[in-house]
Amino acid sequence: MFLHDKFGRAITDLRISITDRCNYKCVYCRTGNEGALYGDLPFADYLRMARVLVGMGVTKVRLTGGEPLLRNGVVDFVRELAKLHPQGLKPSSFLGPDGAAVSRALSKRSAGPSFDSAPLDIALTSNGHLLSDLAQPLKDAGLTRVTVSMDAVDPDRFARITRVSNGYDHVLAGIRAARRAGLWPLKVNCVLMRGFNEDQIIPFGMFAREEGVTVRFIEFMPLEEGRTWSPDTVVTLDEILARMAEYRPLVEIPHARSETARRYRFDDGVGEIGIIAPVSHPFCGHCSRIRITSDGKIRTCLFSVWDHDLHAQMRRGASDEEMADFIRSVVAKKEERHHIGEPDFVPASRTMVHIGG
Ligand code: GTP
Ligand code: 5AD
Repeated sequence: MFLHDKFGRAITDLRISITDRCNYKCVYCRTGNEGALYGDLPFADYLRMARVLVGMGVTKVRLTGGEPLLRNGVVDFVRELAKLHPQGLKPSSFLGPDGAAVSRALSKRSAGPSFDSAPLDIALTSNGHLLSDLAQPLKDAGLTRVTVSMDAVDPDRFARITRVSNGYDHVLAGIRAARRAGLWPLKVNCVLMRGFNEDQIIPFGMFAREEGVTVRFIEFMPLEEGRTWSPDTVVTLDEILARMAEYRPLVEIPHARSETARRYRFDDGVGEIGIIAPVSHPFCGHCSRIRITSDGKIRTCLFSVWDHDLHAQMRRGASDEEMADFIRSVVAKKEERHHIGEPDFVPASRTMVHIGG
C-alpha cells in the first residue's frame, strides 16, 4: 500500500506550498521582485491531495510557501489536516472528488471511532514575521511544530539579508510565541551565504543556548532567482563545525535516516545545532519527500526539471483511486539524486520561493 520509488525509498513526508507569495526578499532567494508567479488553490484542494497521500503512507505534512502565514484560513486548514490519520485510512475509504464532501466527511470522522495510529505530524516552515499572533491558534488547531527561517541574530544584518527593515523584532517575537505555545521541537533555519552571514555562526550558537531552540545551518543551494550561486558562496559543514569549535566543543548525536540535518549538542548538554549539508554531504539516498506546489503540481525533487500536474487530474474529475495511480506513476520517476556542482547540473525548473523549501 505504501508509496515507494524505484530506488526503494519510502515516501512518507509531504510538503505542501500553500502560496508562492512572500513578504521577505532574502538575498539568497529572491531578486527583489514582487508578487507570485503561479498563484494558489482553495484549501479544500490541498486537503484532498493530502488525504489521498496520507492514505498512501504519508505520516508527516509540512506547510511551506512562499510565506504560508500570508494565506488567510491557514489555521482552519491545519484543523482539517489534523483530522487525517496515518495508517487509519485505507485506499477503499477514499472520498469523491468534491472538496466539500471531503470536509463534511472529515467532520463526521472526527466524531466517530478513534484511530489507534499516531497522529499526523503537521509542521510549518515560516519566516516568522506573522507568527507571534498565530502560534497559539495554530497549536490549538493541531499544528505539531514550526521551523522559522532566520539568517542573522544581528538586527542590521538581518535587515540587509531580508531586505525588510522592521522584521527582526517580529521574528524574534514569533519564535518566542511558538515556544510558549508548545510548538516543539522549535527549529530555526539559517542559510549561510559567504559574504553575508558566515560571521553569524558563533552568535547563532549562543542564540540556540539562550533561546532553547535548535539552530540549523543550511548550505546555500542553487535555487535562487538571481542565479548568483557558485561553489565559493557555500559555507560548508566542515567550515561550520570548525568555526563553532572555536566557541565550544560539539558532540554529534544520532539523527533519523531520512532527516535532512546532522545533529550536534554542545559538550555541556545545553543547546542543539543542526547542519543541513546538501552540497558537501548530499542526503538524497534517504530522501522520503514529495512536494506539492501552490498551484497543485507534484515535484519529486527540489531540483526536478519538470512538474506533474495533480490539480489537472482533479479538474478533469479523477477519483481518489485515479489520483493515487497518478501519484504512484509520478513517484516512480523520482530522481535518484541532485547534481549540484557537477558539470551536468541543470537548474531546477522553479526557484525555491515557488517550490517551498
Ligand atoms: P523536519 O521535519 O524537522 O525533519 O524538517 P525538514 O528538515 O524536513 O524541513 P525543513 O523545512 O526545515 O527543511 C530544511 C531545509 O533543508 C530546507 O529548507 C531545504 O533547504 C533543505 N532540504 C529539505 N529537503 C531537501 C531535499 O529533499 N533536498 C535538498 N537538497 N535539500 C532539502
Ligand atoms: N538554499 C538553501 N536553503 C534555502 N532556503 C531558501 N532558499 C534556499 C537556498 N537557495 C531555505 C529558507 C527556508 C527554507 C524554506 O528554505 O531559508 O528556511
